[in-house]
Amino acid sequence: MRALRAAHLHDAPRPELLQLACQRVCAWGAPFTSVYAYMLQDGELVLEAFTGRTTEHVRIPVGVGVCGTAIATGQDQLVPDVTAVGNYLACNVDTRAELVVLIRRGATILGQLDVDSDVPDGFTPAHHAAVKRVADALAVLL
Ligand code: SME
Repeated sequence: MRALRAAHLHDAPRPELLQLACQRVCAWGAPFTSVYAYMLQDGELVLEAFTGRTTEHVRIPVGVGVCGTAIATGQDQLVPDVTAVGNYLACNVDTRAELVVLIRRGATILGQLDVDSDVPDGFTPAHHAAVKRVADALAVLL
């Protein structure tokens, strides 16, 4: 968070702040393997930054996939086993668990941090809380 605030103080543009947030979370290491910042643009999620594996899902409609479900329901999504979820959008074969944390400013949802893990059931409530701190920092700084 300190790095995000420092970047903000230096007038870092939005893509840089989002990239930094992805890098910081990914740098925590396992269970985090890839981190994606999907932001709402005209009612659709758009991939604006990521660290880790590439994905073909650069735009995701609201309600589609785990990411789109988070927006449609207004709830963070913690999926311990992605193979058990019917509407999961796969971007590689190694991902086992997924955590989506909304970036909220008051009542407004700006987007989300989508985190993948190769570890089945890899995310704990502490991981969720840690990613939420980054998402909450972004909500203020963006
Ligand atoms: N798995 C997500 C799509 C995003 S890619 O995994 C980066 C989903 O089901 O919405």
